[in-house]
Amino acid sequence: MALRVLAPLLALLALLAWGATVLVNTTTRAWFERDVSLRARLVASGARDALVSRALRGDRHRLAPILQDIERDDRVLAAAACSEGMTTLARTRALPPRFACEPLAGRALAAGGDLDLSEQDGGALLHVAVVPLEHEGRTAAHLIVVHDLSFVARREGAMRRFTLGVFAVVALLASAATILVRRFTWRRWTEEIRRVLGRGRGSLLGAGSPRAFAPLVSDLRAMIAELAAEQGAALAGQWTPERLHRVLTDSLDGDSVVIVANREPYIHDRGADGAVRIRHPASGLVTALEPVMRACSGVWIAHGSGSADRDVVDRRDRVRVPPGEESYAIRRVWLSEEEERGYYYGFANEGLWPLCHLVYTRPVFRADDFRHYETVNRRFAEAVCAEVAGPDPVILVQDYHFALAPRMIRDRLPRATVIGFWHIPWPNAERLGVCPWKRELLEGMLGASIVGFHTREHCNNFLDAVDRFLEARLDRERTSVVVGGRECLVRPYPISIEWPDRWAAAAPPVEECRRAVRAELGLAPDALLGVGVDRLDYTKGIEDRLLAVERLLERFPAHRGKFTFVQLAAPSRSLIPEYRDLGVRAEALAARINARFGGPGWTPVVLRASHHEPPEVFRHLRAADVCYVSSLHDGMNLVAKEFVAARDDERGVLVLSRFTGAARELGEALLVNPYDVEEASLALAAALSMPATEQAARMRALRAQVAEFNVYRWAGRMLTDAARLRRHERLSARLQSGPRPLDETPGSGGLVAR
Ligand code: F6P
Repeated sequence: MALRVLAPLLALLALLAWGATVLVNTTTRAWFERDVSLRARLVASGARDALVSRALRGDRHRLAPILQDIERDDRVLAAAACSEGMTTLARTRALPPRFACEPLAGRALAAGGDLDLSEQDGGALLHVAVVPLEHEGRTAAHLIVVHDLSFVARREGAMRRFTLGVFAVVALLASAATILVRRFTWRRWTEEIRRVLGRGRGSLLGAGSPRAFAPLVSDLRAMIAELAAEQGAALAGQWTPERLHRVLTDSLDGDSVVIVANREPYIHDRGADGAVRIRHPASGLVTALEPVMRACSGVWIAHGSGSADRDVVDRRDRVRVPPGEESYAIRRVWLSEEEERGYYYGFANEGLWPLCHLVYTRPVFRADDFRHYETVNRRFAEAVCAEVAGPDPVILVQDYHFALAPRMIRDRLPRATVIGFWHIPWPNAERLGVCPWKRELLEGMLGASIVGFHTREHCNNFLDAVDRFLEARLDRERTSVVVGGRECLVRPYPISIEWPDRWAAAAPPVEECRRAVRAELGLAPDALLGVGVDRLDYTKGIEDRLLAVERLLERFPAHRGKFTFVQLAAPSRSLIPEYRDLGVRAEALAARINARFGGPGWTPVVLRASHHEPPEVFRHLRAADVCYVSSLHDGMNLVAKEFVAARDDERGVLVLSRFTGAARELGEALLVNPYDVEEASLALAAALSMPATEQAARMRALRAQVAEFNVYRWAGRMLTDAARLRRHERLSARLQSGPRPLDETPGSGGLVAR
């Protein structure tokens, strides 16, 4: 009987598995083919001018270096330049003979000069693009770009194995279920389940049941409810502020959160006229966390750094924000000048900042600075304890300023859910080894329930460091650390921005921004504009960015007089010599480029070293033809995502450093190595000549990505993981301590353990 039922079921499952593999493989293959075809055209548009001018002059020797440059891309196998009539002008050595100009001539010319093929060659799957290069309205030459698509075949193989694996597991479960069905009838099963979970006679919650098991059942119920909610939410798609708030209330029984972050989201400054004004700091952390706080409500504990901050707080050092909305409070912590120097400028920004960023700036560690760091961490931990309402609050500890605070909070609030998030890269164990207080940092962070980083690589670095420097049990499977009998999850949560972005939504129409920004800069209405937006920080690659602009003007003289790059650079941490020196060097570099290329009516580089409020930033992002984010190393970089949010017109090109966390998500940007000025200048040229259709295709894909992976999802995933961990901890605590007396709390709607 079991076999009679099983055979058709297994056949059906096999059919489904096969269908799923075919469908997924065809779709991914088409996707990759489209992607490499786009890349080939991008390469062609970047190299067009140089190729055409050399092809027309018949300068074959000077074509070869350009083709070799193209071939340097990881996935490009070979390239060739052909004449208008498809005879070979130059080619790289690896070009398979059948994909040279002459053999492809017939097919290419029949297709109007523009051809895409995917074919097997000696066991490898290759994609060949023949791209016509236009000059004065006619085809002057062709570029052949051959991409190696073997990685697609490898992915298809992996997908097949995965699907077959899933099939095997499902088949196994189906067999087990069939055998069980045979053993018990469905009726007996449902009766049994009703008896266990129901409230009727004989149930666990019924009159004669052991009441000590009630919490287990309610946990089970909560888990089922949460799964259902998650499933419902997944169907509903988008993460929203409401959905985030629901996770907080339904899964964590919370109605607010406490955030600990050095930087406050609203700074009150007194101007020269005596009036108090609000400043929004240039901070990725604030960009991301502020919408989360508005969604969740609660208290944001921060250093009160504004000149009028003390004048606007109540007697508990609190002020309600955002102005006009007042949905949460900032609790300000005051620091003496000496404390700020030691904790913020010293240990955090002269020690940890260069330690964590691979930018070759030497970290400085002073015992005095660390002493202040400890004191300030303790001060913030005390502020947390003063702000929370019950024994198990949800506390989000942000960034490298507060590595010690999670343990200090845990010591005072053992049942708290503490989520620590590190916004910058985490170094490998060898690099971390130079920090005299590495053990204190690791132990402090492990006081959290969850430690989050942007990328898996940084999680692995952290786990390696724990392994090397502490006595703790690592669970590589769960990516967690068990220390002092408590588990701390170590997980990647790539941060993001709110979507829709409120500043983008409030900005004037794109056309108006284009006109206004060009007029302010004294540029012609059709001038091409590049934009960079950063704090003036040596990790952001601002000098390399300006050098790329200079190289662009050298290599592509057509852009002289037409292209201007405006850099908005917010002064930052200027008590530190490296930051001051950077400001001086950037000004000198901009002046040198302007003296070299600029002239009456045209300034190639405009460096605005001052604070810009978000509406100003968004106006520039909306006015730009290209935005270049050139960080030498960056945890995430939210300017890249803000540029995407700003472009609801689906225009503008993002040129993005490969060394940002954002590059892992924003694959449709032009990814560059900012140290490689040749590559970066070529990408800028490609961006400036990119056809509108390609800009739109890329921008649409980028916008879909940021919309789906918005900051509510970032916070929601952390809270969901925290809820699971909390339930798991409570369950094991109950199981370990055995049945305990229960208290029926009137009005609570349930039973609670005393
Ligand atoms: O990237 C690290 C970080 O702390 C961010 O979280 C924030 O965007 C930035 O530095 C701000 O720096 P500061 O608060 O020192 O001005």
